[in-house]
Amino acid sequence: MEKELKDWLNIGRGSTAEVFEYGPGRVCKLFREGYPKEYVDLEYKNAEEIFRLGVRTPKPFETIVLEKRYGIVYERIEGKELLELAIENEIDSEEMLDILVRLHCGLLQKHSNNVLSYKEFLTAMIKGKGDENQLLTDAINMLPDGDCVLHGDFYPSNVMIESDGSPVIIDFMNVCHGPALYDIARTFFLLRNNNETLACSYLKKMHIYREDVARYVSIIEECRRYEE
Ligand SMILES: Nc1ncnc2c1ncn2[C@@H]1O[C@H](COP(=O)(O)OP(=O)(O)OP(=O)(O)O)[C@@H](O)[C@H]1O
Ligand SMILES: [Mg+2]
Repeated sequence: MEKELKDWLNIGRGSTAEVFEYGPGRVCKLFREGYPKEYVDLEYKNAEEIFRLGVRTPKPFETIVLEKRYGIVYERIEGKELLELAIENEIDSEEMLDILVRLHCGLLQKHSNNVLSYKEFLTAMIKGKGDENQLLTDAINMLPDGDCVLHGDFYPSNVMIESDGSPVIIDFMNVCHGPALYDIARTFFLLRNNNETLACSYLKKMHIYREDVARYVSIIEECRRYEE
């Protein structure tokens, strides 16, 4: 008899999905019911591209449907979230930021045009909510272009640390391309939502002034209400 979802071992949870053990060395990221297939396909495509570029990320294997939910089968990463390590005091916040900054600088050195541009991503998110916010759309279109690989959600809970200390980036729904400053602004914004001091010291370690990201941060703040 085929195994049912309730028999699977849950090993992780995010805002959009649950992650289950899925055979040796693999996990399945199973999105919540009703989560659109086109978004799941987008994450899969992003995961393939970022893996192809040689960034240390879990290899994506296939997409599946299970009990009316879409899922992505990934290589299993044996380790803990970077955020978890800091919360459990296995590392301090300085060490957490140093790991985050080193990893982010490495990622931002990669280039691609095989993922959405961040402008397409942001405008699609606004349109997806059925809102014709022309002012915001115009402001997005006037932002600079670029071809750096951007994670879009680069935050300590989307980094896992393997037992040998190697960091692995996960969660690819918001991956896009554009100027590095957009992704730095986005991480600053995400960190600042929890801890202003930490967010400022992240920028400092990245050698970026607040003024350099101000324009992006205000757009990110405006786009916030359109996020899932
Ligand atoms: N390949 C993997 N191997 C092992 N654990 C994983 C893997 N992918 C995800 N996880 C675990 O599951 C959690 C949720 O995964 P993920 O961040 O992809 O979900 P999400 O719903 O997109 O999250 P968010 O709340 O950031 O949107 C992770 O934080 C991690 O603990
Ligand atoms: Mg996540």
